[in-house]
Amino acid sequence: MTPEAIAAVRRSYEGLAAKPQVAPRFYEELFALEPSLRHLFPADVTLLQEHFEASIALAVRSLDDMSALHESLRELGAKHVHWGARPEDYVTAREALIAAIRALSPDWDVKLEHAWRSAVTAVMVPMLEGAAVHTAMAAVRLAAETPDVFPGSPAKL
Ligand code: HEM
Repeated sequence: MTPEAIAAVRRSYEGLAAKPQVAPRFYEELFALEPSLRHLFPADVTLLQEHFEASIALAVRSLDDMSALHESLRELGAKHVHWGARPEDYVTAREALIAAIRALSPDWDVKLEHAWRSAVTAVMVPMLEGAAVHTAMAAVRLAAETPDVFPGSPAKL
């Protein structure tokens, strides 16, 4: 992201008139866009909203050095596999988050939307990478159990 885009996202985040409402609005938008995702989440999402809000705040702070967050985002993405998040759900979640921020931002325009889209994508890509590595490791472990079928795989991991 360009320094200008990072600054625009930070200014926008600071200025969100009703910051504590971003996370609740995100879940509202997410379940409106894709009601079938509701069952993945606990009935009461209050605690999750706090976690989600905290990870967005941390990402906004770290935009100029996302590599510092890569490892923890990859782990978060791997956990999401068990919670049932599919790759296509990330696209839905991105739309929901953009819609939530847009609804709460008085100074929204195309440039700001582009900057936010980049910021959200920068969080999601390492999460999806983490999910992919997690799945690939499961394949490697299974292959190692059956050397007659997969003779080239390492004996033990
Ligand atoms: C920007 C992308 C996302 C971020 C930053 C994010 C962040 C988080 C965080 C911080 C938690 C709580 C982790 C914990 O309690 O240890 C969580 C839980 C969860 N997330 Fe996400 N998430 C994202 C995308 C998604 C997507 C695309 C889905 C798919 C529907 C999803 C579904 C869930 C579920 C089901 C839980 C756990 C609910 C439970 O505790 O049972 N998340 N997420």
